[in-house]
Amino acid sequence: MDDESEQKHFRRVLKSFRAYETYSLNLIEQKKKYVREVPKEDQELVKKLAARLNRSEEAIKTNAQFIGKVLAPKILFSNANEIGPNSNGADVGGSNGLSLSDVDRVRTVLKQIAREWSEAGNLERHQSFQPLIDVIQRHFGKTPVSDLKNIRILVPGAGLARLPWELARLGYTVQGNDFSYYHLLVANYILNFAHGDAPADMNAGNGSTPKSIVYPYIHQTNNVVREENQFLAVGVPDVNPRQLPTTGAEFSMIGGEFVDVYADQNESWDCVCTCFFIDTARNVVQYIRTIKNLLRPGGIWANLGPLLYHYADMFNENSIELTLEEVLQVTADLGLEIIQNGYRRCAYSSDQQSMFKVEYDCLFFLARKPVQ
Ligand SMILES: C[S@@+](CC[C@H](N)C(=O)[O-])C[C@H]1O[C@@H](n2cnc3c(N)ncnc32)[C@H](O)[C@@H]1O
Repeated sequence: MDDESEQKHFRRVLKSFRAYETYSLNLIEQKKKYVREVPKEDQELVKKLAARLNRSEEAIKTNAQFIGKVLAPKILFSNANEIGPNSNGADVGGSNGLSLSDVDRVRTVLKQIAREWSEAGNLERHQSFQPLIDVIQRHFGKTPVSDLKNIRILVPGAGLARLPWELARLGYTVQGNDFSYYHLLVANYILNFAHGDAPADMNAGNGSTPKSIVYPYIHQTNNVVREENQFLAVGVPDVNPRQLPTTGAEFSMIGGEFVDVYADQNESWDCVCTCFFIDTARNVVQYIRTIKNLLRPGGIWANLGPLLYHYADMFNENSIELTLEEVLQVTADLGLEIIQNGYRRCAYSSDQQSMFKVEYDCLFFLARKPVQ
């Protein structure tokens, strides 16, 4: 993307965040209107639904408060506030405005926040992040603690940065990378500001971490068993992101397209760790080749994730969709040795209480670049 398109895209992301509240409240208003239109006797029977819609408005406003913190002028990256007057929900669907999928991205990020930075995400993090952390720790297990900072780990497609943060917490030097401003903006807030920003009355159970409240499933009105599931309130963050070892290890997040950003960093990394990432590629071979090039001889690639190829079903988009066996074969053909390989069952951004749950039998492997 050239600078102008990049700026334009960034402005669109900010607009989407800012449109979230009005757009979502408008939708609730529309539903309330329909409830008022059904026959009186039916209205009597669905009184709880009418009350629930009112309650939804409050939850949406709470989510909007969290978004407000993410977009606060002192928190946004430089020049981010030069986008003119605040956008509102009226932009959605308008001729020059946002599409529904823009606001939908904001809703997806709310669920991603629960996965990565709330106690409600414990199970998913245990399923997806822990196998990667364990395999990396085992591999570097003989390294003295004081030398861990010299081990450089790269986490492309890091989302809201919890996985790289967990690795940094163990003492490694870690860099996360992501190209989505939706994720980068929220990660920036959580990592750098959330702990100091929240009001004192929102202290976490452990007494150490102030929190904001987010309702990740508030927009999920299908397959809800009971009202409380839709209104699950999660405290964010569940840990203090500023608590990292002071051993000299570095922790950073870099924005940008993975293949482009790391094109000139051959043999600079001891480990590349990918979680739910390789299927975001148009050309997964290019990702695997990049990972191989980034690794030092003897370096490792730990991967876990499904093969839900991101561009596969998109009209007018191109993508290569390899089978699991082909991914492993290409990895080997490009010169990486598969040391360990299996499946791990994982949910992703999923409401555990919903009648509809998705689980993947994720491909999980550890590969090594030969020393030669
Ligand atoms: C499915 S999410 C996984 C997030 C996180 N690793 C997790 O397991 O929760 C994939 C992430 O990869 C990012 N991503 C997709 N394509 C990318 C690319 N080419 N370069 C950098 N990041 C990318 C997306 O923005 C998204 O945050």
